[in-house]
Amino acid sequence: IDSHIIDQLGRPIKDLRISVIDQCNFRCTYCMPAEIFGPDYAFLPKEELLSFDEIVRLAKIFAQFGVEKIRLTGGEPLMRKDLADLVRRLKEIDGIEDIAVTTNAVFLVRQAQKLKDAGLDRVNISLDAIEDHVFQETNGRGIKTKPVLKGIEAAREAGLKIKINMVVKKGMNEDQILPMARYFKGTGDTLRFIEFMEVGNHNGWNMDAVVSKKWIIEQIDQEMPLVAQDPNYYGEVASRYRYEDGSGEIGVISSVTEAFCSSCTRARLSADGNLFTCLFASSGYDLKTMLRDGEDDETITDYLLAIWTGRTDQYSVDRAQGKPMKENKIEMSYIGG
Ligand code: GTP
Ligand code: 5AD
Ligand code: SF4
Ligand code: SF4
Repeated sequence: IDSHIIDQLGRPIKDLRISVIDQCNFRCTYCMPAEIFGPDYAFLPKEELLSFDEIVRLAKIFAQFGVEKIRLTGGEPLMRKDLADLVRRLKEIDGIEDIAVTTNAVFLVRQAQKLKDAGLDRVNISLDAIEDHVFQETNGRGIKTKPVLKGIEAAREAGLKIKINMVVKKGMNEDQILPMARYFKGTGDTLRFIEFMEVGNHNGWNMDAVVSKKWIIEQIDQEMPLVAQDPNYYGEVASRYRYEDGSGEIGVISSVTEAFCSSCTRARLSADGNLFTCLFASSGYDLKTMLRDGEDDETITDYLLAIWTGRTDQYSVDRAQGKPMKENKIEMSYIGG
């Protein structure tokens, strides 16, 4: 197999984002609004979720194409039973250099050490405010910051590298930008601000609710001077800045105001085994059926090769150029960001 396959826009495949469950203990208003994701919402039945054997089998094939990074997402990935066992098995795959989890951190108190021991390299932790009254609104469940801060502490103690993800939405939490920056400055954790994106069909996105990268950087720079940094690696999603005084770095993920599709190296696998080649796709490729119909590795390999080499997605660029949005996009909680 040629291990350096590229798509129609010359982009290699480097990262595989695997959603392991579509459920979450939070109801963030911009992701799983409680009115929609209520008691009657039909989450995936257990038998529809890929088993660890199935996930590992696909990950091995992806690794042969040049995938080096695996990120486990959800919903909330720590709600998937025995997640550390999956981490251990993925870590053994030849070519996989980096395994990370994107989580709200609440379950890290119990699981951080186990995950680290299994080979997890790092965690990206969602936290949208440092003041309780704001955070209790954003997470939709009235949860205070303390359980999250305890999760962060547990990750630190376990020796996991930590990034903090803050989605910024106008009218929701833009007053938390400076308090969050002050709180995490000097901790060694990288705080990243994320422009509110139009994922899914229920999050009420409109351009007026987006707080731009430019504005965020200006706010912080006025109080805590910043210096722009080069990316850590090709295709890094966040643009990086360091504090002039040497007390750490922050990032901004500007998918709305500065699309980064031209270096997008990511494929996404849903918890029920559909492959998506863009976060904003409305349909995927059904790998679960192939696995469960007993197709051999060669057939699956050829199929994946055809999908990636035919890929043309650049949704954020298209939207910035005024192309109309697709109806029926997949939900964030289903594909994991
Ligand atoms: P690192 O490997 O630590 O750089 O992680 P990451 O930023 O790629 O992943 P994470 O799960 O922490 O996602 C942070 C934010 O970036 C989320 O809002 C994601 O939805 C968004 N994001 C990640 N990849 C993409 C992408 O390919 N396209 C778009 N539009 N957003 C993305
Ligand atoms: N826009 C930007 N980021 C989002 N996330 C969830 N929904 C959105 C959205 N509409 C973030 C989460 C988490 C990551 C996986 O994606 O907060 O940090
Ligand atoms: Fe759960 Fe993360 Fe979505 Fe919030 S953003 S509801 S923590 S999956
Ligand atoms: Fe990649 Fe699609 Fe995001 Fe562009 S919008 S960076 S193509 S996932």
